[in-house]
Parts: sequence; C-alpha cells; structure tokens
Amino acid sequence: MYPDPSSRSAALYERARRVLPDGVSRGTVRVDPYPVYVASGQGAWVTDVDGNRYLDANNNYTAIVLGHADPVVTEAVTRQLGRGSAFSLATEAEVRLAELLCERAGFDRIRFCNSGTEAVMTAVKAARAFTGRTRIAKVEGGYHGAYDHVEVSLDAAGGTWGDPTAPTGVPYAAGTPASVLAETVVLPYNDAEATASLLRTHGHDLAAVVLDTLPSRVGMPEPDRAFLDTVFGVAREVGALVILDEVITFRLGPGGNAARLGLQPDLTTLGKIIGGGFPVGAVAGRAEVMDVFSPLDGARPRLPAGGTFSANSITMVAGLACMEQLDTAAFDRLATMGERVRGGVRAIFAETGFPGQVTGDGSLFRLHPHDRPVRNYRDARHDPAEAAFMARLHRQLLNRGVYLTTYGMGCLSLAMTDVDLGHLLDAVADGLRAELSSATA
Ligand SMILES: Cc1ncc(COP(=O)(O)O)c(C=O)c1O
Repeated sequence: MYPDPSSRSAALYERARRVLPDGVSRGTVRVDPYPVYVASGQGAWVTDVDGNRYLDANNNYTAIVLGHADPVVTEAVTRQLGRGSAFSLATEAEVRLAELLCERAGFDRIRFCNSGTEAVMTAVKAARAFTGRTRIAKVEGGYHGAYDHVEVSLDAAGGTWGDPTAPTGVPYAAGTPASVLAETVVLPYNDAEATASLLRTHGHDLAAVVLDTLPSRVGMPEPDRAFLDTVFGVAREVGALVILDEVITFRLGPGGNAARLGLQPDLTTLGKIIGGGFPVGAVAGRAEVMDVFSPLDGARPRLPAGGTFSANSITMVAGLACMEQLDTAAFDRLATMGERVRGGVRAIFAETGFPGQVTGDGSLFRLHPHDRPVRNYRDARHDPAEAAFMARLHRQLLNRGVYLTTYGMGCLSLAMTDVDLGHLLDAVADGLRAELSSATA
C-alpha cells in the first residue's frame, strides 16, 4: 500500500533528496510523500521498483500513445542505436518524419527541436522575427512549457488575478522580470468579447497569440466557436500571428485539433507523441513565416537557431515508427476509448451521487471534484479542499493499480484493452466510494 516507508521507492527518494533538489528532476513526478520509482513499462502497464503494477493512465503526461516499449519503435531504435545516435550531419530520418507530418497536417515547413518548451519558445521568437513586434498574448492558466513569457499567469490565484475580463499578468517563478509581464497579455479562455477587446487594445505591438484548444490546466473545457473565431479573426485584423500549441492535442487526430476544428494557424508547436517516446519538439507552419529560419539572398536568417540534439537520429526514427502506426483507425479507436472512459466516470459520479464532472476529448480526460460549469481557468482551478480531495483520490487509484496525474488529468494509450479500461473504471468507482465513506465516517 502507498505510502509505505519501508518500500524501495521511499528509500530511493531519501537518497534522491541528497543529490537532487526536492529529490527529482521534474516537479511533475512528485507525489506526496514520495514519488513512485518505475522499474519497467510494457504496453499499458508499468511496474515499480517494489513490484507493484499500475495501469498507466498518465502516459508520461500524454507523450506515450502506443504504450510502453512498443515493439516496432523498439526495433527501429535498436537498429539505429547500432548506427549511432547523434551526428553533426543531417539524416534521412529527419526528412522522412518532416514529410509525414507536413503531409498529414498541411504544414509547409517544419523544424525539429528537443521539447515542447523549446518548440513554443522558438515559435514565439519566429513570430517576433516575422512581425518585428515583441509582445505575445496567452490564455490565463494555459500551460505551454517553461519559457518565461508563456509561464505568465500559469497558476494565477484569487487576490492577484484581477478582473476576469482583463486578467492581471501574474508571475509564475520568483524573479520573473517585470519586462516579461509587460510583454505578455493575458486572455480569459472562452470569453470572446473580452478577448476581442484585449487583442484590439494591445494589437499594434502583438507578435502572436499562443493558444491551446484543449488546455489541461484550464480544465480541458470545450472551446467555444465564437472564442476561436475571435482569436483567429482579431489576430489577423491586428497583424499578429496565431501559434497553435498542439503539443498535447496532436494526439486528437491525424491533422491535430486544428484539422478537426477547421483552424488555420500561422505556426503550430508539436512535441510529445511525435518523438515516439523520446525527447522532441517541433515548430511548423506557413512557408512565409517559417522562412525566418532561412538565409534570404545570402544574408543570415532573421532567426538563427541551432540545437545540438535537434532532430537526433534516435528521436527521428522513433517518431517515424510511432507516427506511421497512427492511422485514422488508430485515432478513431483512441476517441472511442476516451468516450467510454468519460461516459463511465460520469455514470460512476451519478451512481455515487458525487457532484463531480469529466471534461476532455479523444484519448484525454480530466476529472473535476465539483459541479460548477468549467469554461475557463478560474472555473477549473481547485480550491485547497478540492486539491486535497484530488490528492486523496490519486492515492486511492494508486492503491488500486492505476496511475493518473495528481490533478485528475488522464490519458489513454492504444495498448489499453477493454479489460484495462474496465480496470480503470472499477478503480475510479471503488476509490471514490472508499474516499466518500471515509469522509462520512
Ligand atoms: C500544451 C503544452 N505545451 C508545451 C508543453 C511543454 O512541453 P515539454 O514538457 O516537452 O517541454 C507542454 C507540456 O506538458 C504542454 O502540455
């Protein structure tokens, strides 16, 4: 049972804290009182160093789509490992993955890097280089990685977040320069009228609007059509670019969520699934904008960009082996699985009388421990009691062999069977019942 002070995971964490600040290299693996240390993953399941097995409904925060140790990806990577992992020369695998992604999603050009953070940072710099403007706009609560400007108002809270129709830019990290706040306009998700007004007010010096159409920290609400049309229409009107962050949503369909929603962004940022389980990021888009990376008329590019491990051979062959398996039938199956899970959890909430709700799309879902309508970050943000409830539910699921995120976001993989989905739903039902009965005891 978790937590167990005599477990190998607990002991590893003790050692880890002596050499890693807070014992980890990424806050997202932290679970209180200690992270679970994984020994291996196979398909839909992971096994920890104490021999406990969990159905992986987190999938490395949505990066794993085929399941762990997929045989085709493993074979491609193993073959490439014998030929070398990273070179100061270009590779055919890079060209092949670029061709596949451009063909599927309608990008003119794509450039690879090593993470979603780097992709978003590079896209913002590309928009600046293209427009000659410096400011950006982003949605309150929207997560786009660790680049300073897109971190603004990531975890804004009541007291400092200001007017809901003109949110105050709140620093995320201590020491955020005031200039970063001044260069970032914060938009309220799904509020078309307020967004139009903010974009028009700041439009003359906006380089880009950065947008995710299923933002996990904003609660994964469905995007209002009027809001999407406003972002795209007013951005165009004021001469700003739209950067669609599809680092997560690219798992929703062969052309990402842009194709499903009929959106035509200037730039798109990618990451997670396109690396087949290896570190990756990419910026893609219209040729005219992507030309900021190319030397024009023999001059230096407007945006020079290197990257020692960008498009390294291992990531490229893994990404290709993964993306080639994601045909239309695979995306359809992920969507059907997601509907089953969201519907199943809704039924559990109804049966238990728990006033929770589920949002999400395709293979992604988010559980909310309340029934107020979720349209934006302020609706979705957990108060301390809700955050504590979700942490307890996470532990209930852990002890029933399911690994979710601590804040209730879940993600399915193609390796999951119907039996696995049943296991996930049984764990939610039993875990919720246990939590509810301990609350009334
Ligand atoms: C929408 C979105 N953009 C960007 C990122 C950053 O990606 P990475 O963690 O690869 O830097 C994430 C990571 O979760 C994300 O969810």
